[in-house]
Amino acid sequence: MSEAREIREAPGRLGVLVPGMGSVATTLMAGVRLVERGFEEPIGSLTQMGTLRLGKRPEKRVPRIKDFVPLAEPGGLVFGGWDPVPEDAYHAALSAGTLHKEHLEAVREELSAIRPMSAVFDEHYVSRIPTSNTKSYASLREAAEMVREDIRSFKRENGLERVVVVNCASTEAYAQPREAHFSLAAFEEALERSDPSISPAMVYAYAAIQEDVPYANGAPSLAVDVPALSELARERGVPVAGKDFKTGQTLMKTIVAPGLKARMLGLEGWYSTNILGNRDGEVLDDPASLKSKEVSKLSVLEHILQPDLYPELYGDYSHVVKIDYYPPRGDAKEGWDNIDIKGWLGYPMQIKINFLARDSILAAPVVLDLALFLDLAQRAGMGGVQEWLSFYFKSPMTLPELYPEHDLFVQLTKLKNTLRTIKGEQPIHHTGLDYYE
Ligand SMILES: NC(=O)c1ccc[n+]([C@@H]2O[C@H](COP(=O)([O-])OP(=O)(O)OC[C@H]3O[C@@H](n4cnc5c(N)ncnc54)[C@H](O)[C@@H]3O)[C@@H](O)[C@H]2O)c1
Repeated sequence: MSEAREIREAPGRLGVLVPGMGSVATTLMAGVRLVERGFEEPIGSLTQMGTLRLGKRPEKRVPRIKDFVPLAEPGGLVFGGWDPVPEDAYHAALSAGTLHKEHLEAVREELSAIRPMSAVFDEHYVSRIPTSNTKSYASLREAAEMVREDIRSFKRENGLERVVVVNCASTEAYAQPREAHFSLAAFEEALERSDPSISPAMVYAYAAIQEDVPYANGAPSLAVDVPALSELARERGVPVAGKDFKTGQTLMKTIVAPGLKARMLGLEGWYSTNILGNRDGEVLDDPASLKSKEVSKLSVLEHILQPDLYPELYGDYSHVVKIDYYPPRGDAKEGWDNIDIKGWLGYPMQIKINFLARDSILAAPVVLDLALFLDLAQRAGMGGVQEWLSFYFKSPMTLPELYPEHDLFVQLTKLKNTLRTIKGEQPIHHTGLDYYE
C-alpha cells in the first residue's frame, strides 16, 4: 500500500462557473438536472459510470470511481456563468439546438433561472458573436477584479464554499506566449495597461486562480497554459488543467493511432475533414480562431507515433485537418478520416472512419468529470497542472520539461493510478507475472 493523501471533506454543494454558456455548457446543465431526476443515465461520464480495479484480480475489488474517491454529488451542483449573449441557459440551449424539446421542457424552470453574468469580451479575440452583455472597465486589471467579485458573490448568494471554473467560451484567435505571459509581474503590468496580448480567457483564468478556484480550459484558446498563470496556480496550490476538450475526431485519433503503433503498422497519411454547423463552427469560420483549433488537433499524432523513435514507420506521413462551417448540420457534426497505412513488406492499406458525432453530447460529461475531479484535487491538496486529467484534453498541459501523453489508454491508466495512489492503494502495472510464478 502507498501512503494515502488526506482528502478534505466535501461539505455542502459545489458551484460550477463557466465562461461561455453555449452549447456545451447548457447541455451539461440540462443533462445533470435530467440525470438527477432519474430521467436519463450519465452516459459518457467516467466519474459516474466508471469503475477501477483494486489489488489483485482474484480479490474482485472493483468499486465505482464515485464510491472509491469522495466526489461532489452531481445532483448538488450549482451552475452559473458569463456570456456576452444575455440569453438564460434555457434559451441558450434552445438556440444551440442540441437537445430535444422534451428534454429541455423537463428542466425549463431550473435552466431559465441561470442567467449569464456580463462577460469580459474582446472582439479582437472572438468575432461573429452578437454581444450585448459585456462588462465596461477602464483596464483589464479592473476586468479581472470584476470577475473575482462575480465569483465571490456567486458563492455568497448560493451559500457555497467550493467553486470550480471550466472555460466553455468560444475559441479565441490563435496566440502564442509573449513577453507579458512569462512572469506574474509582467502579466499583472500588462493587465494594468490593457495590453492586447492579454485575452479574455486569460482574465477569467487569472481571476479564478487568485480566488483559489480550480480552473480547466475546455477551449483551445491560450489561457492558463501561459507560464505566468500556471506558475501562479502552482504557487497558490490551485489545481488547473487544459486544454481543448477531447471529443469527436481527436478522440477517435487517440484511440486508433495507439493501436496502429502497438502493431508496428506504418502511416503514410491521415486526412481528416469535419463539417459542423453550431455556433462553435461559426466562430471557427474565422481564420484566426480556426488556427487555434487546427494547431490543437494537429499535435496529437506526432506525440503518439513518435517518428523520432520509428522513422521507418512514421518519419514522413502527411497529416491534414480541415474544418468547414456548414450550418444545416447544427451540433450534429460529421467527421471523415482517411488513413493510409502500410503493413508487411510495405503493402498499402486504408482505413476510413465516418463519425457522425454530436459535439456537445460528447463534451458535456467531460465537463462534469473535470469539475468533480478538480474539486477532488483541491481537497487532496494537489495544486498546479493536473497532468492526470490529460485523458480529457486534445492538448494536455504538462510541466514545460515534459512532453504530453496523448494515447487515450495510457491517459486512462495515469488517471486511475493517480486515484489509487491518493487513496493509498497500489498502482496497477499489468505485468501479472506473479500469478504464474
Ligand atoms: N463541443 C465539443 O465537442 C468541443 C470539443 C472541444 C472543445 N470545445 C470548445 O468548447 C468551447 C465551447 O463550445 P460550444 O460548442 O459550447 O460553443 P458555443 O459557441 O455554443 O458556445 C460558446 C459560448 O461562449 C460565449 N463567449 C464568447 N466569448 C466569450 C467571453 N469572452 N466570455 C464569456 N463567454 C463568451 C459565446 O457567446 C457562446 O455562447 C469552444 O471553444 C469549443 O471549441 C468544444
